Amino acid sequence: MAKKYLIETYGCQMNIHDSERMAGLLEQAGYESTADDMDADVIVINTCSVREKAEEKLFTRLGEIQHRGIKSGSRPVVAVTGCVAQQEGSRILQRSSAVDVVIGTQNIKRLPMLVDDAVQHHSTTSRRGAVLELDPLEDVSFPLGIAKRHDPHKAFVTIIEGCNEFCAFCVVPYTRGKERMRGAAEIVGDAENAVADGAKEIQLLGQIVNHYKAPDDPSCDFAALLERLDAIEGLQRIRFASPHPRHVTPRMIDSMRRLPKVCRHLHLPVQSGSTSTLRAMRRRHTRAEYLELVARLREAMPDIALSTDIIVGFPGETPADFEETLSLAEAVRYHSMFSFKYSPRPNTLALKRMFDDVSEEEKTRRIVELQALQKRIQGELFAASIGRVEPVLIDSRSRRREWELSGRTSGNTVVNLSGDPVWIGQVLPVRITEANPNSLRGEAVTAFMKAEI
Ligand code: 5AD
Ligand code: SF4
Repeated sequence: MAKKYLIETYGCQMNIHDSERMAGLLEQAGYESTADDMDADVIVINTCSVREKAEEKLFTRLGEIQHRGIKSGSRPVVAVTGCVAQQEGSRILQRSSAVDVVIGTQNIKRLPMLVDDAVQHHSTTSRRGAVLELDPLEDVSFPLGIAKRHDPHKAFVTIIEGCNEFCAFCVVPYTRGKERMRGAAEIVGDAENAVADGAKEIQLLGQIVNHYKAPDDPSCDFAALLERLDAIEGLQRIRFASPHPRHVTPRMIDSMRRLPKVCRHLHLPVQSGSTSTLRAMRRRHTRAEYLELVARLREAMPDIALSTDIIVGFPGETPADFEETLSLAEAVRYHSMFSFKYSPRPNTLALKRMFDDVSEEEKTRRIVELQALQKRIQGELFAASIGRVEPVLIDSRSRRREWELSGRTSGNTVVNLSGDPVWIGQVLPVRITEANPNSLRGEAVTAFMKAEI
């Protein structure tokens, strides 16, 4: 009987896609998926360490698995992958005897072999091991058609792995290594494959997507890559995350403006509105440069929706610096915002050289104030869209009510509507009728036309 696997995923879209790749690799090796951890012969825990105390979450989960082994006499083979695996390495094996193998972020292609080995030698502890090399020249190609994509309508497509920016707060350059670009021909092939399998939208992934330069074609930068992807027949939408403000070029803005499939949305992390905090963060853009970029984007695409990431309470952030973050948010008027309280991360410059001097209470006060401001602005933007007809990609249905569907506008706002589940996977014109704090409500315009035909 085939062995069963379960992958538990924490963290960002990159991790979700790594899990899709690992699932595909395990199935190719003869494993079958299960959703029940009691039924799994192999559990892969794909971890994240970008914020909070992710390590502790991992060890809590490992404790549960260990406890299950103690009670029943057998525990599954456990592999730990992702950023905590890379960061903590064999310390994970020392701390928990529930783990058989620790696999670094650049070694997932070896997962089936390592898991097979662990399955065979499960009862002997001598074969437990960690595979962690971070190779600056690692080949980031990945065989087409293997990843087991979890969403039939939206496909993640990796274009870059790793990051060379070394922002002072960020662990990613240490956990995912140096920036490596995937070949343009392979990216287009991956996207075509996903579209042939039914995807209507692709989402390009990379730490700094707009730093893309094709290793197999010197003329292909990010703007040219968008152009090539836009030409794929059957594809309806292209999104990407995340660009870095300092790498947004006039060519990129022009491609976004011209290409009909590129969504009118840009996630443009700013992190802070204060130039001195940005300097301390090693972001290499100022408040004025960011605001000027926003103005150029809006000039080219007046209807573009912007979203961002903001950190409050970075070392040395004064109340006046935080006021500048508030005033930047007020000036830009983001459609959505992810805000975080600063937390020191291993290996980073901020941990090594700066003092985490903003108290937890003050961080909380600042994030509450920022989120209240964002809620007001978002409410105003959402209310202003009532009455408009927007193209919406219908992507899912409610778990509770069959005729309750959900989708996203080109600007990436969630729209809920009543409709026929056969619409899922289609882009339909939807009239916005109601604004809620985090989503819109609407009615499909074509539904009536269809009924009349
Ligand atoms: N503390 C708080 N937030 C962080 N982020 C990254 N590192 C940290 C940290 N040490 C946030 C940034 C980034 C997002 C993915 O997570 O805003 O853009
Ligand atoms: Fe981290 Fe900065 Fe690289 Fe983004 S650009 S992954 S925040 S180091």
